[in-house]
Amino acid sequence: MSIERSEAENCRAGASPASRAFGNRSGCPTTARQNRGVIARYRDFLPVNDETPVISLGEGDTPLIYCPELSKRVGRGCHVFVKNEGVNPTGSFKDRGMTVAVSTAMERGARAIICASTGNTSASAAAYAARAGISCAVILPAGKIASGKLLQAFAYGAKIVAVDGNFDDALRIVRELGVEGDFVIVNSINPDRIAGQKTAAFEIVDELGEPPDFHLLPVGNAGNITAYWAGYREYHPHQRSGRLPVMIGCQAAGAAPIFHNRIIEQPETIASAMRIGNPASWKQARAAIEESRGAVDVVTDEEILAAQMWLARHEGIFVEPASAAAIAGLFKCCDSNEAVYSFRNISEGRRIVCTVTGHGLKDPDVIMQRMRELKSVPATVDDVRRAIDL
Ligand code: F0G
Repeated sequence: MSIERSEAENCRAGASPASRAFGNRSGCPTTARQNRGVIARYRDFLPVNDETPVISLGEGDTPLIYCPELSKRVGRGCHVFVKNEGVNPTGSFKDRGMTVAVSTAMERGARAIICASTGNTSASAAAYAARAGISCAVILPAGKIASGKLLQAFAYGAKIVAVDGNFDDALRIVRELGVEGDFVIVNSINPDRIAGQKTAAFEIVDELGEPPDFHLLPVGNAGNITAYWAGYREYHPHQRSGRLPVMIGCQAAGAAPIFHNRIIEQPETIASAMRIGNPASWKQARAAIEESRGAVDVVTDEEILAAQMWLARHEGIFVEPASAAAIAGLFKCCDSNEAVYSFRNISEGRRIVCTVTGHGLKDPDVIMQRMRELKSVPATVDDVRRAIDL
């Protein structure tokens, strides 16, 4: 085995004693060392130390996109930004937590990880396990995973198990398997996942100089709203103002346990990522909403799909349905008398951030159904011009 090969191996599996002796935390050859990723950027805020092998795919540092059309929709001189988490390495925000959870699992000598998932966690876990050179099992609700996400888990080489049940059933099984000690659980019940996901709030504060006035995001298992709220509070000393944002969680109408304050036995929504009836971080999400004087609201599947199309066509940002729930929630705050939190009387010039959590290409099936069949035309300029019809 050549020296280069063994260094590459170290780089993948983490720091070896030899590489640590050369003062290189990540175990990568210095020239090849990646200075990207949330651990590299926010190490001091994360549960890692010099012994932790860094398993990273360069996640985080996602764009906070100013959206003029969305800002116009809100009016009152408000500024709306979209934090586009769909451009993470596996196309969702899960990568932020997964780099930390898999790195700490490696530090503890894990040989396999496991998760229940509505799709994105499994895609992310599978990728980071592949990167670390360990096994990954993903337990999924049969028939309810968006095709792009399932393909990802397969491509990254995870062991995929589909159960006849929903996400809540899958998570119950994973919790039990975790107790037996053969696997490290990398769902957001693993605090290292939440720790990694906090970095999205840090990035927003670093970019805006302070937290926004309002933060809207979709809520499923409720790990992300928990992580953002923890992140904003923890980053307090690093911002100019002493303020914290009002947190507004958006649930799908058919899968809204926090909104209704009761377990939903048969959750149902087109936004399959949020098809969850008994969220693991329910209490923490409630605390975030109450402490921030925010709200949790519901949006219908129709509103979600309309918001998905609107965002793609007006701002050029294509997100999966669950992510569009945050945009649908924003519209509801602006337009609806039934909104739990109304933006009609907010002060002028407020700053609003909506987190969009996953890339639109992960869930092509819903959009595909809305596309008309594509008929070909003869390959002539005239036929093509006629077909364009603009
Ligand atoms: N948006 C997307 C795209 C998601 O994949 C999820 C959750 C959420 C929002 C909700 O975030 O659970 O932190 O409240 N997906 C999990 C999964 C459940 O298995 O991929 P949350």
